[in-house]
This record gives sequence, structure tokens and C-alpha cells, in this order.
Amino acid sequence: MSDVIEEARAALAAARFVSVLTGAGMSAESGIPTFRDAQTGLWARYDPMQLATEEGFRADPALVWRWYAWRRELVAGARPNAGHEAIAAAQMRFDHLRVLTQNVDGLHARAGSADVLELHGNILRTICLARCGYSERRPERLPAGVPPECPRCGAPLRPGVVWFGEMLDPDVLAAAHREATTCDVMLVVGTSGLVHPAAALPGAARRAGAKVITVNPEANELDALASVSIRGRAAEVLPRVLGPAA
Ligand code: OAD
Repeated sequence: MSDVIEEARAALAAARFVSVLTGAGMSAESGIPTFRDAQTGLWARYDPMQLATEEGFRADPALVWRWYAWRRELVAGARPNAGHEAIAAAQMRFDHLRVLTQNVDGLHARAGSADVLELHGNILRTICLARCGYSERRPERLPAGVPPECPRCGAPLRPGVVWFGEMLDPDVLAAAHREATTCDVMLVVGTSGLVHPAAALPGAARRAGAKVITVNPEANELDALASVSIRGRAAEVLPRVLGPAA
């Protein structure tokens, strides 16, 4: 492992502009389940079409609402891990470092990372199903059982996350693409690279001349784009890659 750690450190030592694309594996060591890990992954235990689509929500709002209330509890009880902290601390070291995350748990910001691009929204935010513009960021005010009505238009409220079949916020996606195509190094941490358009960002970075470094205990297709692939866990590897020289 130490040789690939050294290779990654050398690539970062020569970099001024860094982007960090993260997925559910980034928060696994904070106790938040991933989606596709066998047995433990959320999609191994629950039906994503029933719980993470507008159709599923309309079919059974209470079921979906309770499921997100449970996930909000998990997030509220979680803490950023050493990987989140290493990224936040490294932000001062580079001319520019930005986190592009698929995670909706807000743990990067809680670790101190500034200006995080939340590609799939944030589970602590609640919005109006009719998209009248109403949004709520105090989950403790939300009832557990059934989705409340929007105080502005009366439509049901729903979690402020991107569901399957939905578009990402175009401004957030455009900003993420800009970061990917202007960075010297893209660190890709804890993602299976199966969900687009986020999964296309490492390829865009590579085509724009950036070095891609993947961190994941399992191999996947994103490794084909990487100049350095590190088989390991985020909280263990990132302090060694981003931290001060030993
Ligand atoms: P996945 O669950 O698909 O992939 C998690 C990845 O993290 C896998 O490749 C694991 O091998 C890896 N992993 C597990 N533990 C790790 C650790 N401790 N350190 C580093 N890596 C680890 O999650 P995502 O790729 O994030 O979207 O999934 C993408 C999107 O699919 C999510 O944002 C969500 C989901 O459906 C929406 O809900 C829109």
C-alpha cells in the first residue's frame, strides 16, 4: 500500500487545483450504510423504486417519509470520520480544492469543508413536492409519521434529495463539471461509479488532462481512468494521502 500512497502524495504535491468526488463509501466508517454493498447496502435491503422515486412517494407517502426519517436519524447520530477531516484540513493547502459529493448526509460540511457541491441534495433539507420554492432546514420540526403539507401551497413536503429519474440541479452540475475539467488531480473516494451524471465526472477530468486517484476497498470500472488506485478505506487512506508527511 505505501507505494501507491507515495504515488498519490507525489501527484498531489505537484497539484494546485484539486477536486474530490465522493460517494457513500466516504461515510461508511461514520456508520452510514452504502447503497450497493452486498447485504449491508440500502438497495440490498430496500426497493429503490419504492423509496427513491416520486412515483414511490405518491404511491405510499407515509412509508417513504418514515424511511427518510429513519435515515435522518442515522445522519444526526453520525460524525465525520478521519477521511472527512483530512479533506477539510487539506483545503487550505491547495490553491483550490473542492468537494463534489453524491452523499446527502452533510458530513463534509460538518467536518469543515467549505463550498461543498451536493450533487444529490441534502437529506436534512425538505422541499415542496410541487416545487413551489418552499424549503425547510429544521428536520427536528418535521413530524415523524406522515409528510406535512407545504405551508405555502398545501402540497406534500418531500426530502430535498435527488430521486431516480430526476434531474440534478443544473447549476450544481455545471459547477461540478467546471471543477472536474479545471483540476490537476481528481480524488475519487468511495463510489461504485454506477450513477450518472456524477459517474461521468472522473472521465471528464481525465480527458481534460487531470490525474485521477481512486480510493476504494473494492475494484471497479473507475480504476481504468486512474493513474493511481488505492485499495483501502477512506478514513484510513485519506489522512495518509492528504495529511502532513510522516
Ligand atoms: P454505492 O453504494 O453504489 O458504492 C459505495 C462504494 O463505496 C463501493 O464501491 C464500495 O466498495 C465503497 N466502499 C465501501 N466502504 C468503503 C470505505 N470505508 N471507504 C471507501 N470506499 C468504501 O454508493 P455510491 O457510489 O455513492 O443516489 O452511489 C451513488 C448513488 O446511488 C447515491 O448517491 C444514491 C444511490 O442510489 C441517489 O439516491 C440519487
